[in-house]
Parts: sequence; C-alpha cells; structure tokens
Amino acid sequence: MILFRISRDLRLQCINLLVDCDSVMPGLKVLIVGSGGREHALAIGLSNSPSVESIHTCPGNAGTAMLGVNHAVPASDVNAVVELAIELSVDLVVVGPEAPLVSGISDSLREKGIPSFGPHSEGAELEGSKLHAKQMMEQLRIPTAGVQILKPDSDIDAALSRYSPPWVIKRDVLAAGKGVVVTSNFQEANAFIQESITTDGFVLLEEFLTGEEASMLVIMDESGYICLPASQDHKRVGEGDTGPNTGGMGAYAPAPVVTDSVKQRVIQEIVNPMHHHLRNQPIPYRGVLYVGLMINDEGAPSVVEYNVRFGDPETQVTIPLIESDLGEMLLAAAEGRIADYQPTFSNKSAVTVVLASEGYPGPSKTGREITGENTRIEEGEIVAFVHQAGTSRNDEGKLVSSGGRVLSATAVASELPSAVDAAYAIIEEINLQGSHYRGDIAYRAL
Ligand code: AMP
Ligand code: GLY
Repeated sequence: MILFRISRDLRLQCINLLVDCDSVMPGLKVLIVGSGGREHALAIGLSNSPSVESIHTCPGNAGTAMLGVNHAVPASDVNAVVELAIELSVDLVVVGPEAPLVSGISDSLREKGIPSFGPHSEGAELEGSKLHAKQMMEQLRIPTAGVQILKPDSDIDAALSRYSPPWVIKRDVLAAGKGVVVTSNFQEANAFIQESITTDGFVLLEEFLTGEEASMLVIMDESGYICLPASQDHKRVGEGDTGPNTGGMGAYAPAPVVTDSVKQRVIQEIVNPMHHHLRNQPIPYRGVLYVGLMINDEGAPSVVEYNVRFGDPETQVTIPLIESDLGEMLLAAAEGRIADYQPTFSNKSAVTVVLASEGYPGPSKTGREITGENTRIEEGEIVAFVHQAGTSRNDEGKLVSSGGRVLSATAVASELPSAVDAAYAIIEEINLQGSHYRGDIAYRAL
C-alpha cells in the first residue's frame, strides 16, 4: 500500500498548504454509482485525488468498501440513488454504468443542483439506441460500418447477400454486450435476425469492419474535451480472440495501434464532429464518450460503437495513467468547464487481466470463496494489485464471488512486458474454484 500512503501524505501536505494560506476549501464528497471493476478503479483514482475527501459507492463491491462507504442502493434505482445523493449532500456523482444514464439519472441530479458526471438521457441515447447512434454518425459523416435496418417485411436472404460474411447483427437494446452476433453461418445469422425482429420489431445488419479494435475515452462537456490514453480491450472469452463475446476479459493502455497519426484522424474525423454536435444541443453532453474504434490496415479509423460511460475493463488501465487530480477533472466536466482543466498523463503502460467465474459469459457460479486478492507487488517502478468487481462479503466476512467478472489483476510499469508479467504473477496468486482468465492479454502489442 506504499503508493497510496504516499498520495495520502501528499494530500495532507496540500491540506496543510491550504491551512497556511488561510483559505481552507472543503474536500469533495463523491458518490460513485455502480459495482464493477470500473467503479473500484474510479474509487482508487478518486482516493488518490487531493481534492477528494470522502467516497461513497452504491451499491459498490468489496473493493470500494475498503475506500469509503458502500450503500445498498441498486444502480438501476434512479430515484433511490438521487435521494441518497441528496441525503449525503455529495458534491459530485460519478455514474459508472449506462442503464441509469439512459433512464435519466443525470437529468434528475442536475434538477436538484447536484453535479453529475455522465450525460443526460438524450445524450445517453448514443449508447441506448444503436439506430440513433448510426443516424447521428450518418448525419455528421462520421466513418462507420454500412447498415441495413431489417423489419418484418424485409427480405432477409437478400439483405444478407448484400454483405459478404461474417455478418454483424445488432439488436437495438441495452443488452450488456449480448445483443450483438457476429457470424459467418448463414442459418445462424438468419435465425438471429428473425428472432430479433419478432422481439424488437426491427434489427440492424451491419457490414463487417476489418482491422484492429481500440477504445478511446473522451472526457467532454460543452467547453471542450480531453482524450485519455487509448486502450485495447479483449472482448472474446478465449485466447486468440475466440469464443463468445464478453464484457471484456482484459485490457492494456496505451494501445500502440493508435499511433499519433491515427489519433489525429480519430480527433478530426470522429471526435470533433461529434463534440461540435453535442456541445450545441440545448442540454450539452457532460461526461465521458467512449469511442469504440476499428483501425484498418491503412490506419483509417471507423466507429464500431459509442458508449456514454467509462469502459470496463478499459478504466482499470486508463485511470492509473492519469497523473492529475481525477476528482477535479470529473467535477470540471460535470460543471461544464473541462476546457480550463490541464491534465497530465504518465508515460507508463498499464495492463489488467480479468478473472471470471466458472460459466462466464454464460450463467456463472457465484458465492464461492476467493483468497489471495490482497497480493500486491511493488518492485522498483512496477506496481501490481487487484481491482475487485463481482465480489462481496458473506455472513462470515469472507470474500466471495458475486458476479461473472470477479476481479482483475492490474499492473503499471515503464515497459508493457514488465506490466504483463506482474499482472499474471498476481492472478496466479488468486484462488477461486472454477475461475478462468485469458493468458494472452496484450498479445497484439507484445
Ligand atoms: P458492439 O456492442 O457494437 O460494440 O459490438 C460488440 C463487438 O462486436 C465489438 O467490440 C466488435 O468486436 C464486434 N463488432 C461490432 N460491430 C462490428 C462491425 N461492424 N465489424 C466488425 N466487428 C464488429
Ligand atoms: N469493455 C467494453 C465496454 O465497456 O463496453
């Protein structure tokens, strides 16, 4: 825990300085909404922020409980979260998952005068509706895959034959990554299209984009935006990117596929037009825009998807690379003054390896005891530790699994290979019956 002690010392020094200046600013009281590894990473980043005095999380996990107070309020219960924020008199709410944003949590918080990091419900439609996101990209001429909207009277065979396989079929619902099927099997594609049309009334059939994926998290408000270091997720459950899609089995940052010239193109062709559009809306977008990218062999970027929140597990490798005060940065965006904020980033590399429950991404076994999660490595400049996700304490106070993605081992080092070795050294110390992880995280960069 040396790293955190140093930061607390720094915090005390800052507080002393303020006392000396006779202008004591009270520290921020922050409420984090959510319960995953992303929220534990946010809590660690905020606990290292000199501006932050206390952290509350709802509902949180066993990791966030070590950094503040967990409240048994589900993230999906927007009214209860808003009531909690009022009761606690928080200075800032940081919303982790997309569902409460789509349901209007930021709208309600702002009505009550509470700064919320996360867009209002209309802005959240960029993730809430893939059709809306597509229409927006078309309107703004942002590069993305071609799409056909299929309805009950559409000729599905003809639609499929217009694109070469593999086919990408997307339901227009929030389905935590499970509403998308990518398949080269004609029958499977046809069946998923028919099922989706029956359930939802229509479905999106997209052209398959080739290249390498990357995630760019952009903190934005009407005054400006900040691109965080680009990262790369590993969405498939199996090594070599095989098997079904998951929420993400590991990530690393910075992602070398996003070279300086690719980044310039992403900014010019994707981020600038979207920011220009969002800043001119009656209610501007305040929060993070997650740009899911496909970079082709020529370095041309296209948008695979937008999310309106931090990525999980991208956050676990991005937050450790932010050197400046995370609390101040998120508050600045929530208050519409990010243009005045000057961030600094580390030039180190970070990697995180997710440990998942038996069965994940299908129905997962939970309630099993976890040990070894307190292992920490500090060797020279290498730091490695655990981000908890689907964890909780049972009646005996033992740490048990409570979700599909249970925790991740995260490491930060000057060189990516050292970070990868340290993350795997931690993951091998953790015991959870039936758990699994990918052994090839960051392989594209190594
Ligand atoms: P989405 O929920 O839209 O991010 O899709 C989930 C995953 O499916 C993405 O991370 C990609 O790996 C894959 N995918 C989605 N759309 C496409 C596309 N048009 N071309 C290739 N792969 C895609
Ligand atoms: N890691 C992918 C996501 O957060 O959507």
